[in-house]
Amino acid sequence: MDLSLPNDLLQRISEARRVAVLTGAGVSAESGLSTFRGPGGLWENQDLMELATPQGFARDPKKVWEWYAWRREQALVAQPNAGHLALARWEEWLSHRGGRLDLITQNVDGLHQAAGSKNVIELHGSGWVLRCTRCGRERLDRTHPLPEIPPRCGECQGLLRPGVVWFGEMLPPAALVSAQTAAENCELFLVAGTSGTVYPAAGLVEVAARQGAATIEANLEPTPLSDAVDWSLRGRSGEILPSLIAALD
Ligand code: OAD
Repeated sequence: MDLSLPNDLLQRISEARRVAVLTGAGVSAESGLSTFRGPGGLWENQDLMELATPQGFARDPKKVWEWYAWRREQALVAQPNAGHLALARWEEWLSHRGGRLDLITQNVDGLHQAAGSKNVIELHGSGWVLRCTRCGRERLDRTHPLPEIPPRCGECQGLLRPGVVWFGEMLPPAALVSAQTAAENCELFLVAGTSGTVYPAAGLVEVAARQGAATIEANLEPTPLSDAVDWSLRGRSGEILPSLIAALD
């Protein structure tokens, strides 16, 4: 597919040495994972208040865990797609030239790391982390199926919860600081596959723009961020992201 990217954009890409990228569910769509909003999205037939809030979990931990167990299973069989791989390659290219790419993701599927990205900031946590609601211990666990639902802590028998951020919860402070620092210090900020409706993630592009960074969006559809960015590119991230890095020598 010829995306005919403008020359000034390609030049900014090849010159930038500090790059920050924000990704959302759309980047994993071509790996077979559902997005949240829009037709066929997870929130179309599911109540986010029941499945993605602390109150919903307190009311029915089994129901919430069944949903996360299903999403873990989907993510376990999913493979990184061309978009994930392009971002990993861009990070490597920059690191060989004294540059840096910070990859801020709202996704909890771990596919960026599977593609080889190293500087990944998981703003909404990880679906592979289990955290005890009693003693606070966390562990990485990719087991599927889980031995029991809801799972229990091996140390104190407390109820485990997924290590993700739910609506109404604070973002992990260290991740938020890293994301803000990356946005403030980059020359180029790319936002890909997110509806740009969930804050503070969606506000990072504005932070970067205020500091003078060039801003790019890659999305199938227009979003609330489209008018604010310098270049809004329409299409699949699995096609746009590889074509952006084709600008690198
Ligand atoms: P959304 O489902 O809100 O948005 C996905 C975006 O990806 C939409 O704008 C689509 O147009 C776009 N899209 C879909 N397929 C694409 C493709 N192949 N290439 C490019 N773009 C594509 O997902 P997020 O923005 O990630 O939070 O949602 C943000 C947060 O809201 C999530 O982290 C989650 C959700 O509720 C929590 O659960 C806390």
